[in-house]
Amino acid sequence: MSPPSSTQQIPDAPLVPQHVAVIMDGNGRWATARYLPRVTGHVKGVDAVRNVVRACAERGIGYLTLFAFSSENWRRPADEVSTLMRLFSTVLEREVGKMHANGIRVKVVGDLTRFDARLQEQIREAEEKTAANRVLTLTICANYGGRWDILQATNRLLADRPGLASVTEADLAPYLCMAHAPEPDLFIRTGGEQRISNFLLWQLAYTELYFTDTFWPDFDAAALDDAILSYQKRERRFGRTSAQLVEVRKAS
Ligand code: IPE
Ligand code: IPE
Ligand code: MG
Repeated sequence: MSPPSSTQQIPDAPLVPQHVAVIMDGNGRWATARYLPRVTGHVKGVDAVRNVVRACAERGIGYLTLFAFSSENWRRPADEVSTLMRLFSTVLEREVGKMHANGIRVKVVGDLTRFDARLQEQIREAEEKTAANRVLTLTICANYGGRWDILQATNRLLADRPGLASVTEADLAPYLCMAHAPEPDLFIRTGGEQRISNFLLWQLAYTELYFTDTFWPDFDAAALDDAILSYQKRERRFGRTSAQLVEVRKAS
């Protein structure tokens, strides 16, 4: 069963977001501002990931999704791309055991076929080892693009059901990369840019958006709390009016 769709039925709006999705941006600028190579920013970014994973688990957030490498990031200089690949591999090697011990389920989504065989194998092993964990589901989007996701889902659906004349949300949902998670409640983008950059285009339909100038390596538990506080002040109407929400609250 795929999680419910916010455009098809009105979801719960929990006080603590159930699912937080993050564009971790600003590693390069963090480093450049310190006259350090960009790669140092990426290495520091890993520390921030560790802190934010822990903080989310402590706050009872069940799903954390991190944009680590976009389908467009291949356009970067070759040495930065290969450094990022090596870093990804090292992080999996060093961190998966600890994450497993802390009850974290690891998922990696995106077009993984473009990664080398060893990295693909590491990803498979990490997912397999942690599959039964339920404290927090950490989804890493790697060589991921929102348009790619919608197209791969459509193509796989049509391959399974070639006679299909038209497609409904319910048909498509199980084929999307994030079928294992509810739609994000809160989206965070660090680094000052206010754009989606081809992140979860389908899943962000009703997500609350939060942008901060803080560069990703500086993003910590206190910064996460600021984002959660901002989220808690929002009125999530899902198409309804404010007055209707007052009625809903009275009835419950
Ligand atoms: C985000 O930081 C990490 C990745 C995209 C891999 P950037 O590397 O985009 O940092 P800035 O935006 O150049 O500062
Ligand atoms: C988005 O950051 C992708 C990731 C964080 C992995 P970018 O730095 O690549 O985004 P743009 O190119 O500035 O939009
Ligand atoms: Mg960037």
